[in-house]
Amino acid sequence: MSKEKITKEELLNVIKVWKECDKSRVKTAEVLGIGNSSLSYRLELARTQGLMTSGSEPVVEEKVDAPFWIKDLPDEELPIEEIIDRAVDRFQRKQEAKEARSLIDVNLTKQLDGPFGLAIFGDPHLDDDGCNWPKLLEDIESVKQANMVAINIGDLTNNWVGRLMKLYAYQETTRHQAIKMIKWLLTESGVYWAAVIGGNHDMWNTEGGDINQFIFQNEKGIYQAHGVRLNLLCPNGREIRVNARHNFPGNSQWNEAHAISKAARFGSDHIYVAGHLHISGYQIVKDQESGFISHAVRVAGYKDIDSFKEQLGFRDHKIWESMAFIIDPYADNELEFIKPVFSIQDAAKELIWRKEQWQKQNRKK
Ligand SMILES: [Fe+2]
Repeated sequence: MSKEKITKEELLNVIKVWKECDKSRVKTAEVLGIGNSSLSYRLELARTQGLMTSGSEPVVEEKVDAPFWIKDLPDEELPIEEIIDRAVDRFQRKQEAKEARSLIDVNLTKQLDGPFGLAIFGDPHLDDDGCNWPKLLEDIESVKQANMVAINIGDLTNNWVGRLMKLYAYQETTRHQAIKMIKWLLTESGVYWAAVIGGNHDMWNTEGGDINQFIFQNEKGIYQAHGVRLNLLCPNGREIRVNARHNFPGNSQWNEAHAISKAARFGSDHIYVAGHLHISGYQIVKDQESGFISHAVRVAGYKDIDSFKEQLGFRDHKIWESMAFIIDPYADNELEFIKPVFSIQDAAKELIWRKEQWQKQNRKK
């Protein structure tokens, strides 16, 4: 409470309590539940306002720690009660937001009734001189032709930070040009991004806000750092849970999809996908008790020429940059329900054909 708000009635009460406590500041402060300096201020205020009936100075008899007093100064911070109230509200708000994002429903319209495609784009690193733009453009075109829904696994650009900033000296694309590339990919390329994930490179230099999130804010899909879980709701009522992260924890020198398949073994989603390591891998996982099948895929992305990889002697295990799942919500057979295809072009061709077949069958009914 600031000192300006102390009323005459409050000051009279302070004097009354002070007298009842035999003018002991320690007792008075205790009874009033205020500090010694607050009491001194109030007594001084009462004196200056002529409220002391005896007209005496509010000098007290007991010993004080210091031979002076300083009146209360206004606190620039919020009162503790308000700080706690805000902390409670903030936590509840964050908890609600977190729970709402634990599995995000993506309602597919009638436009995607029947077989449809879910494209998983690997790390683009759009501004890197080693980004395979011809392949990226080819994949984007195929995804558009087959009307697929897409997920971007993250690392849209290099977005160098700290000592890595020196690497801008070795790439042609400036940061300004890189931002134009992000804008094009997310909002102008014609791809329906259901989700865009912020990878480790995207999370650098976000002290003043995340540029990817800002660019994507008016799009239909969701942008989320690190990972996202989607629940694709098909027009026939079937649901497909997709767990997409820039990376999952775990490593194995024997299995490039190890981290993702580990997540699949311990999880309950249909599709698990990740990028980050710029290598390709796949594993299909069956829960022997329930018979539930999960697909675990790592996509390598488009950074084809990578001096860091060459410097450290990483094995080249890029087999596909991106891939797609052909999903038939009407299929009874698990392998027809979700089919991984490790070429976006092949997936697009098959999907166009399957959609035609499905429409012909539907027309007959
Ligand atoms: Fe990457």
